[in-house]
Amino acid sequence: MLNAKKIRADFPFFKQKLKGKPLAYLDNAATTQKPRQVLDAMQEAYVARNANPYRGAYALAVEATEAYERAREKVADFIGAEPEEVIFTRNATDSLNIAANLVCASRKRGSTILLTEMEHHSNLVSWQLAAKRWGHRISYVKVKSDGHLCREDLEKKAGMSPLVFSFVHVSNVLGTVNNAKQLSQLAHENGSLACIDAAQSVPHMSVDVQKLNCDFLAFSGHKMLGPAGIGVLYMKKELQEEFEPLFGGGEMIKKVSLGGASWNDPPHKFEPGTPNLQGAVGLAAAIDYLMGIGMENVERHCQGLAAYCRKELEGIGAQLYGPVKGAGIVSFNVGNIHPHDVAHFADKEAVAIRSGHHCAQPLMNALGIAASCRASFYVYNDKEEVDRLASAVSRAAKALG
Ligand SMILES: Cc1ncc(COP(=O)(O)O)c(C=O)c1O
Repeated sequence: MLNAKKIRADFPFFKQKLKGKPLAYLDNAATTQKPRQVLDAMQEAYVARNANPYRGAYALAVEATEAYERAREKVADFIGAEPEEVIFTRNATDSLNIAANLVCASRKRGSTILLTEMEHHSNLVSWQLAAKRWGHRISYVKVKSDGHLCREDLEKKAGMSPLVFSFVHVSNVLGTVNNAKQLSQLAHENGSLACIDAAQSVPHMSVDVQKLNCDFLAFSGHKMLGPAGIGVLYMKKELQEEFEPLFGGGEMIKKVSLGGASWNDPPHKFEPGTPNLQGAVGLAAAIDYLMGIGMENVERHCQGLAAYCRKELEGIGAQLYGPVKGAGIVSFNVGNIHPHDVAHFADKEAVAIRSGHHCAQPLMNALGIAASCRASFYVYNDKEEVDRLASAVSRAAKALG
């Protein structure tokens, strides 16, 4: 396990106490805290480097451009992409909406989009809207009660050659890790594009787009120690020429006349308007921080905490969802007690967990529940915090069960 206490010392957030107790922050699938290194890098970019990238010939503007492009190179390196394949967006949701609209607008009406019942609303409503807008239909791969995709249903529906198969790499509710390489291959074997929602995988494991051989991959900076407001859409080079940009504005053009415009080279073609320089710099600093720990260590640590958490919660009679061997996410319920009440009990002990449908209502329906509690771990969490959660859950069960 990582030395979480030592890591926590890098995070000004953890200096505060809640109700006189140190905060056990176990809602990392929602968003993560930021280390001093990220905050410092962003502050420096505001204080010393704040100019509009690409738009000025003066030294400061050139420096801003270079800092932004260095951040792009860092992200590209982190996921095994070429820098031109990295498009900066606002977050994973933005990335998935862009992918959905580019793909749906590019093909004739009446195609099928394949999703799964396991998706976060970001990878669901985005495609529903785009499909409706451009005249396509959607089909969903079923999820089994053990939290895995139904293989038979997957092969049947993928075999019908949908336009695109867009799927979540790691479920934000169950921690299920889908075999993204196999799913991308299945999509390609059937002539479909492969789009991966990697919002919960890029922060937690080594992800390489070359190995996965996907066409699109989306994630957010704020779930991996970086700032909110910056996200990434990886788009395979071969596809970039094929798509018309969705949005117009500054710097995405080569030439503009009153009659029309021609497009800048990718990725700029897909990045209209003033870029989020400080967000990109913060994300690059977050990647440096994670690489300093090592992604294999991040993955092992979070999986270890999740396994320990499952054991402790099972010991006090909680109902657990999802596979035993998943990522650092544990979903559970305690008898008939409403998840919000359990979360409220935990909050009284300065333990922060999520409760609700986790932006995955169709998955909740498939599991036959309305809501659950969710503990999700990151590099600064430790077993002591899991113990505090277990004792709060146990108290909730005694008081309300
Ligand atoms: C699996 C998954 N996809 C997409 C998202 C959307 O991320 P964001 O809200 O940062 O756009 C989330 C957020 O929780 C997620 O867990």
